[in-house]
Amino acid sequence: MKERIKVVVTGAAGQISYSLIPRLVDGHTFGDKIVDLELVEIPQVVDKLQGLIMELEDSNFPNMGNVNFTSDFESAAKDADWFLLVGSIPRGIVFNGKKIEERADLLQINGGIFVGQGQAIGKYGKSDAKILVVGNPANTNALIGRHAAGNDSQLWMAMTMLDSSRARSVLSKKLNVGIEDISKMIIWGNHSPTMYPDFENIISNGELGKNLIDDMNWVNNDFLPIVQQRGKAVIDSRGASSATSAAKAALDTVIACENPTKSGECFSAAVITDGSYNLPHGIVCGMPLMTTSEGSVEIVRDIVLSDFAKEKIKISTNELIEERSAVEDLLK
Ligand SMILES: NC(=O)c1ccc[n+]([C@@H]2O[C@H](COP(=O)([O-])OP(=O)(O)OC[C@H]3O[C@@H](n4cnc5c(N)ncnc54)[C@H](O)[C@@H]3O)[C@@H](O)[C@H]2O)c1
Repeated sequence: MKERIKVVVTGAAGQISYSLIPRLVDGHTFGDKIVDLELVEIPQVVDKLQGLIMELEDSNFPNMGNVNFTSDFESAAKDADWFLLVGSIPRGIVFNGKKIEERADLLQINGGIFVGQGQAIGKYGKSDAKILVVGNPANTNALIGRHAAGNDSQLWMAMTMLDSSRARSVLSKKLNVGIEDISKMIIWGNHSPTMYPDFENIISNGELGKNLIDDMNWVNNDFLPIVQQRGKAVIDSRGASSATSAAKAALDTVIACENPTKSGECFSAAVITDGSYNLPHGIVCGMPLMTTSEGSVEIVRDIVLSDFAKEKIKISTNELIEERSAVEDLLK
């Protein structure tokens, strides 16, 4: 009998999910396991998920198990192994009669969603459940969800893999090497334009990034702004936020957590700080992670940070502290 895994996806009728969900059951992400899906949406659009389910059935995915759709997050959460929390309210939408333009409003509204979902995950999710928050503001949503869950054996992450993939893509062009020739692409801080993509600690063909890249003019005027502003550049061009690349990044994060990390390597996601690297306590911050052979995900603690990196990371952690203050009432 094949092993089964239960995966909950919120925002299942949205753009990212349309790219993400089929690839959860195609045999690549979870290997041989049979994947049971719980697709969650708000009541207004939940029925649309029937169309997606028809398409999943029509695709004949060999590893697809039971597929349910619901707007009841609590029932979906029961005994789930993975939660991919994509659902959130985007900036610019009219919510309760008010157009949501300010980051503070966005933090409050989306933060509110993560209180309820966090409580349900803490209560009904598997004790070793892994949770990947994709919906923005991802780090602070994860902080709120984790707090509401109150279950330290579960792993809450916010997605920074897309930022890491973007940075690898820019660096591979600069160094004229393949994507696979760049590893240890760490994103520090917030999934926002303050993030710090750590070019100094990448490894490319056995060489450290700081020995390969000495053009600080390029770093400051090209590399950092391109990576930090890439999300906006996609929105400006496409009129919608990154979807297929975000879905791929979510899948890459799941794969990185499901398989032991090769010795000396790491991957990027944001997790709760624990004093490593002198990062401020009590924020969900982008850091280097590794998956052990026993399957637990841990912070990699031996990265050496330059003064330049520390200065940049501080800007981003300060922003995370500000975001935390804006949702203080949700963290009581
Ligand atoms: N972390 C990252 O790297 C990254 C990258 C790209 C996009 N994002 C974020 O991902 C989110 C989703 O993007 P998208 O393009 O799929 O948006 P979308 O608007 O197409 O879809 C979002 C879906 O979430 C649903 N939703 C809202 N509240 C919900 C709730 N409480 N429960 C369940 N579903 C709910 C909406 O009905 C909608 O269908 C956005 O917040 C976006 O900013 C994050």
